[in-house]
Amino acid sequence: MSHVSMPTLRRQPLDPPEEVLRLQEEGPIHRMTFADGHLGWLVTGYSTARAVLASPHFSNRPETMHPIVPSRLEIARRGVPPVTRGFFLRMDPPDHTRYRKLLTGQFTVRRIKMLEPRIAEITAACLDEMEAAGGPLDLVEAFALPIPSLVICELLGVPYEDRAQFQVDSQILFNLETGADEALAAIGRISAYLHGLIQHKRETPSDDLLSGLIEGGELDDEELIGVSFLLLVAGHETTANMLGLGTYALLTNPDQLAAMRDDPSVAENGVEELLRYLTIIHLGPLRTALEDVEIEGALIKAGETVAMHLPVANRDPERFPDGDRLDVTRPAGGHLSFGHGIHQCLGQQLARAEMRIAYPALLRRLPGLRLAVSPEEVPMRSDMSIYGVHRLPVTW
Ligand code: HEM
Repeated sequence: MSHVSMPTLRRQPLDPPEEVLRLQEEGPIHRMTFADGHLGWLVTGYSTARAVLASPHFSNRPETMHPIVPSRLEIARRGVPPVTRGFFLRMDPPDHTRYRKLLTGQFTVRRIKMLEPRIAEITAACLDEMEAAGGPLDLVEAFALPIPSLVICELLGVPYEDRAQFQVDSQILFNLETGADEALAAIGRISAYLHGLIQHKRETPSDDLLSGLIEGGELDDEELIGVSFLLLVAGHETTANMLGLGTYALLTNPDQLAAMRDDPSVAENGVEELLRYLTIIHLGPLRTALEDVEIEGALIKAGETVAMHLPVANRDPERFPDGDRLDVTRPAGGHLSFGHGIHQCLGQQLARAEMRIAYPALLRRLPGLRLAVSPEEVPMRSDMSIYGVHRLPVTW
């Protein structure tokens, strides 16, 4: 048990582990012994992380992973139904390209713009309910989770009432402690649910993304399950955690909160800065070298695993001076929170729209918003592959 693994212990809930920040001072790429003894690499530098993520010499297919990938990180990767075609996050070109092309048009800035009124309506309805209920309450349950969850359900055509059937299982998949059997069972349940839904839609199509994909006729059932699995799971856990953790960050940085609330022109950049500063994808992404590649003087051998540390890369002083400070007015564009290269987040415009609408609406409707517990009492998601807060007790 003397192996060095990815440092995950945070001293401060909003700062990456100090050991990784220290490594960054030494250089952009490091040999790292993963928990299982496999020797790979840890990337801490911004430009190195971009170079790896943009390089065609690295793969994201599970088959090319080192046979004994680091267990904690392998679990971190396990939003992945191993059987399913269509889960294109874990594919390389040309397969990846084929699926991604089918979907790009649905997630453009223009298409997402059309969803904005509905996102605003959903946000307002959550705030109405919060006001009616009165504080203290859990902001995750009342606001951060339902907004993105409702939006992605409506977009895909998944009945929101069915969410109990996949939210518990997606929590299981994102938990770093989940064992392989438990993860496979959860994947099986979500896939079975989606399979049923796809059959139903085949008979009674409606005006939603999933019905459109079915009617397009290019994908078989297994592929449809894989694609919808990815969109459903990626689409609500991520933004939900940004809204929860972002609100925590603003409440504990009142000057930044005031800037986001009082100046509408700040919100757009403020969202980018929150994405950068919080970097909720906090372990990985990982890639495997397809051949020997030299990056920043390091020779990465074919088959070796490279872990990008996005939270630290996003604080690289060469790219973001004074990056440990949350500053909603700094130029924060170019951060790596949505990844980079061919797998760069498909849903980023949707996530941005949700956050641009939700944060200011929350802060303006409830100007007295504050934590209902001390900051130290807020349970952080250190045990999950997507960082955030488990609960955020607030009042106003
Ligand atoms: C703030 C919220 C979000 C964050 C931080 C985030 C982050 C990421 C990151 C880092 C990747 C790349 C992973 C890699 O390279 O291995 C990714 C990919 C992806 N994301 Fe997001 N995401 C967010 C919201 C969403 C939403 C709302 C959707 C809804 C559709 C979504 C769908 C996807 C998909 C489909 C991919 C795979 C793209 C591909 O492989 O081509 N994401 N996301």
